[in-house]
This record gives sequence, structure tokens and C-alpha cells, in this order.
Amino acid sequence: MKTIVLNASPRKARNTAQLLKSAADGARDAGAEVEYIDLYDLTFTGCRGCMLCKRKGVERCHCYWKDDLSPIIDKIFRADVLLIGTAIYLGRPTSRYFELIERLHFCSLSYDDYSNYFTGKINVGMFVSMNATKEFYDRLYKTKFEKYAKELEILGGKVILYPCYDTLQVSDYSKFNMASFDESKKKLAHEKNFPKDLENAYRIGQEFSMLTPKQ
Ligand SMILES: Cc1cc2nc3c(=O)[nH]c(=O)nc-3n(C[C@H](O)[C@H](O)[C@H](O)COP(=O)(O)O)c2cc1C
Repeated sequence: MKTIVLNASPRKARNTAQLLKSAADGARDAGAEVEYIDLYDLTFTGCRGCMLCKRKGVERCHCYWKDDLSPIIDKIFRADVLLIGTAIYLGRPTSRYFELIERLHFCSLSYDDYSNYFTGKINVGMFVSMNATKEFYDRLYKTKFEKYAKELEILGGKVILYPCYDTLQVSDYSKFNMASFDESKKKLAHEKNFPKDLENAYRIGQEFSMLTPKQ
């Protein structure tokens, strides 16, 4: 069982990364072979429109652009489980997340009939961390993020979306111009909720990595 974990948030040790590391621990404890990758360490862009993935006779579900992302795309298509995380930036996933999805999605899309070249089954856990409270998320982000999660159904498996609300963006708010946040409220929410979020992430990583691997 292979589990690939992709951090599409730039910060390597903060909220999204901690959720993903917990999910990765769950996967490892379930016996999966886990690879954890910080996408911001890699050099790549979104799709360059080279059209090589649509050339006649070429291997499907392979991005031909030569940069750091193409081998990761190969690894995703060979995995059993994808655990991916992003912070919410201005109401959307990060730009890195979009660059990855653009490449992953386009190289598996048939331009003959818009079907999906990918016939495998990869279960996906998508983790989204944000300043927003659950109420704000439900009102303004939920529908949008459910659509982003749905897009990952191109990988043929089950997709679960895990929103992590009201995160601590910085450890000392007094050092920043962030008056719209109440530090003590933020810290209370963090102490109350984040340990549960980490446990839930662990469980998702564990359960997904225990589901039947592909033959
Ligand atoms: C550029 C930028 C834009 C952001 N936009 C939003 C936003 O629109 N909504 C929101 O709830 N949080 C927003 N945030 C806050 C982050 O989503 C939140 O702090 C998240 O947990 C950060 O994840 P990280 O700790 O893994 O970096 C933004 C943060 C940054 C840096």
C-alpha cells in the first residue's frame, strides 16, 4: 500500500503540515509505505500547454514537461492513497495546489471524448486549514471546497474533505497588525479543537491506508 502526502501550503511546520504529518503517521501505522512531499520545495509551474500528453501513441496519465512535478504526478498515479493539504488563501486553495491539479487533471483527460484516461482507484483525503470559523466556512467556502474535492474524483476513489477551522496563523498576535483577530479566543479555539483535528487526520490517514489496495 503506497500513500503519498502532499503539502500544498508553504509553511512546513504549521497547521496544514501538522494535519498532514498526523495523517501520514496514521497511514504509516496502518502499514503503508508513506512519502511526504512539501510542494513549495519543488520547482514547477501549472500546465504549459505543450500538448505532449495528447500526442498519438504516448503513455497516458503522464506529464511530459521536464520539471520537479512530473515525477510526482507519476507517483500519484501509482499510489493507493493521496493525502493532500492546503491552507485557504483568499477563499481558495493555494496557487501551488492549483498548479498541481491543472497538470494532474489535464494529463488524465481525453481530448477525444473528455473521458478520464485514468482507470485506477486512489482514495483521497483533502485537508483544508483556515482562519475562518465553521460558521463562516459553511456560509462562504463549503460549496466551493466541495467542488475542489469533487475534482479529485478523477482519481477514481473515495474522496474525503476535512476542513480545519479557526487555526492559529501566528504564535504571537501582538507582534503583527492583525487587530481583527482576538488572540485569546484564537488560542482557546486552537487548544480545544486542534488536538481533535490532528486525531481525525490520523484516523483518516490510517483508515484510507487500510482500505483494499489495488491489484
Ligand atoms: C495569503 C493568505 C491568504 C489567506 N486567506 C484566507 C482566507 O481567505 N480565508 C481564511 O479563512 N484564511 C485565510 N488565510 C489564513 C490561512 O488559511 C490559515 O492561517 C491557515 O491555517 C494557514 O495554514 P498554514 O498554517 O499551514 O500555513 C490566509 C493566509 C494567507 C497567508
